[in-house]
Amino acid sequence: MYSVKNVFLFSLALSLPTHGFCKRDEASSVISGIQKISDAVITLNKTVSSYPGGIEGTITALDILGDSFSLEHAITSTTSDAKQSANFTDTESQSIAQAFVNLVPTIQSSLTTIEGKKSEFQHGLLGLASLDWVVEDLLKTLKSDSDALSTAVIAKLTSTWAGVAPLVVSQIDAAFETAITTYST
Ligand SMILES: *[C@@H]1O[C@H](CO)[C@@H](O)[C@H](O)[C@H]1NC(C)=O
Ligand SMILES: *[C@@H]1O[C@H](CO)[C@@H](O)[C@H](O)[C@H]1NC(C)=O
Repeated sequence: MYSVKNVFLFSLALSLPTHGFCKRDEASSVISGIQKISDAVITLNKTVSSYPGGIEGTITALDILGDSFSLEHAITSTTSDAKQSANFTDTESQSIAQAFVNLVPTIQSSLTTIEGKKSEFQHGLLGLASLDWVVEDLLKTLKSDSDALSTAVIAKLTSTWAGVAPLVVSQIDAAFETAITTYST
């Protein structure tokens, strides 16, 4: 990541008279990252909704895995954008907090869909073996990825927004906990 090219661009930015010329707009990438996460959650929700379980569900089960990996990628790349970002301004913090708030019902609704498919996943693999442990594992990974994202974002918010963000994060965590419990019992 921190290649010679980056060092070169950095030196170039320092040597330019107009400051800020080469600055990447990390706050915008975080906001568009959250939008990508939302899109990926909606896609996953749609695929899971259509999952019939059993032999006929084999292809859909693979699609679900693919959708989960896309979602994971969206989360981890947004986390790295947040980590690379300078502290957000108040306006940026507000927009980012708002984007997170918008994400909550999408995540809650999608996790409810996943919970409702437990019995299909239990008759998942070619109709022979249970996939519920795979789902439990995916949910745990997605939850820890989301927690890492929240931590990275909160560290860059202004104090007002950093103060309210845990309320949003706890709603997301609670939804994950419920879904994980559903699959672990
Ligand atoms: C960024 O914000 C954090 C937490 O508010 C603060 O501790 C840190 O000093 C800030 N960094 C800069 C470069 O302003
Ligand atoms: C998730 O899927 C369910 C069932 O199809 C649907 O009712 C719900 O609106 C979907 N949620 C989102 C966020 O797309």
